[in-house]
Amino acid sequence: MSQAEKNHQDHQPVAKNNDYAGLMPLTLFLAIVAAYASLLIGWVVFPMLLYAKYEQPINFNHSLHVDETGDCESCHYFREDGSYAGLPGNDVCTGCHSDVMGSDPEEIKYVEEYVNKDREVDWYVYSRQPDCVFFSHAAHVLKGEMECETCHGDVGAEESTRPYYVNRLTGYSRDIWGENISGINNHDWSALTSAHAGEDDGEDGHGEGGGFTMKSMKMDDCADCHLHMKGVEREGCFVCHK
Ligand code: HEC
Ligand code: HEC
Ligand code: HEC
Ligand code: HEC
Ligand code: HEC
Repeated sequence: MSQAEKNHQDHQPVAKNNDYAGLMPLTLFLAIVAAYASLLIGWVVFPMLLYAKYEQPINFNHSLHVDETGDCESCHYFREDGSYAGLPGNDVCTGCHSDVMGSDPEEIKYVEEYVNKDREVDWYVYSRQPDCVFFSHAAHVLKGEMECETCHGDVGAEESTRPYYVNRLTGYSRDIWGENISGINNHDWSALTSAHAGEDDGEDGHGEGGGFTMKSMKMDDCADCHLHMKGVEREGCFVCHK
């Protein structure tokens, strides 16, 4: 026997097969722990890491203001040229808030930090799309007669602003990407079609939209609704892109 062969023999494992059997419960236990750990990471830790969370600069009470003004249009209106004004600036607010009128700390902060210093509030826009996207409120709200709630949810009823979450990987707001981290958000389009039939338009035309709200607003979601409501498949890219 050569020296090499001898060494090889010396290093054969000495244990017999059934000596490993004692390790089975431990292996199983570790596998279960690992499975739970990855579930925890997947469902709790990963989304926490995936989204950066920001609070709005001012905690704005929509419900209170909708009661005060009686509508949405005092703040969110169409300009003469049909473009959408979007978020209101201080000029809309100072009709009422030229001076502090109550003792609400958020109102005091708003008047002292923004109105008096002539600074606009830098609101986070939950539904913000990338710059290459062309979206028209006139096409949807005026021509399509759609409810705000269909795309935004019942924002008018909110008593405080919710946090703004942005996906660190895609850079998209969670309202665009959707709650589901995989980005797959199936919509029940039959609920939309019945909502669109106008069961509940509310007194001012801004009802609950029949209960249908978009879960996300990625390219596929826009195109899917167009397929269901306009009946068009494979629209030209420049319908939605600049
Ligand atoms: C029609 C009058 C009116 C207009 C317009 C108006 N507000 Fe108010 N706002 C009120 C009243 C009334 C209150 C309740 C009084 C208080 O709590 O100080 C209030 C309360 C607030 C508060 C404290 C409660 C809260 O929402 O957290 C903030 C902040 C505020 N307003 C910001 C704004 C901003 C920003 C705008 C413009 C986008 C605006 N308001 C437009 C009447 C108005
Ligand atoms: C007094 C002014 C005022 C009135 C009236 C008002 N809003 Fe707003 N709205 C704001 C301000 C200020 C913001 C920015 C802060 C926030 O996101 O809550 C905002 C934000 C929004 C947004 C969020 C857009 C985004 O993607 O970030 C929606 C949607 C909206 N409003 C819908 C409505 C609807 C629907 C109504 C009527 C039921 C309404 N608003 C009435 C002032 C107003
Ligand atoms: C819930 C349904 C729905 C969603 C979501 C939706 N749309 Fe639309 N969109 C429509 C309907 C319906 C029309 C046609 C309105 C009309 O002319 O009566 C339309 C029209 C348009 C138009 C005008 C051009 C045309 O063909 O009339 C553009 C541009 C557009 N949509 C872009 C978008 C983009 C971008 C998104 C996503 C960010 C989006 N839409 C999301 C339903 C939707
Ligand atoms: C078909 C879906 C749809 C409907 C219906 C709709 N919106 Fe929007 N809204 C959007 C999208 C998408 C954006 C983001 C546009 C962008 O970033 O270019 C947006 C943006 C906004 C903004 C922020 C604009 C800014 O300054 O950045 C406000 C405020 C708003 N919508 C209010 C409303 C109100 C009020 C109504 C009802 C009268 C309404 N929207 C109806 C989809 C919709
Ligand atoms: C129905 C509206 C619509 C149509 C039609 C459409 N897009 Fe989009 N597209 C969007 C929206 C909304 C986004 C932003 C959200 C997203 O990335 O899903 C987007 C995002 C994109 C992006 C990613 C850009 C970025 O900054 O992340 C590319 C690339 C793109 N579109 C290419 C195309 C091409 C090519 C076509 C034609 C074959 C097309 N799109 C047709 C609505 C549309």
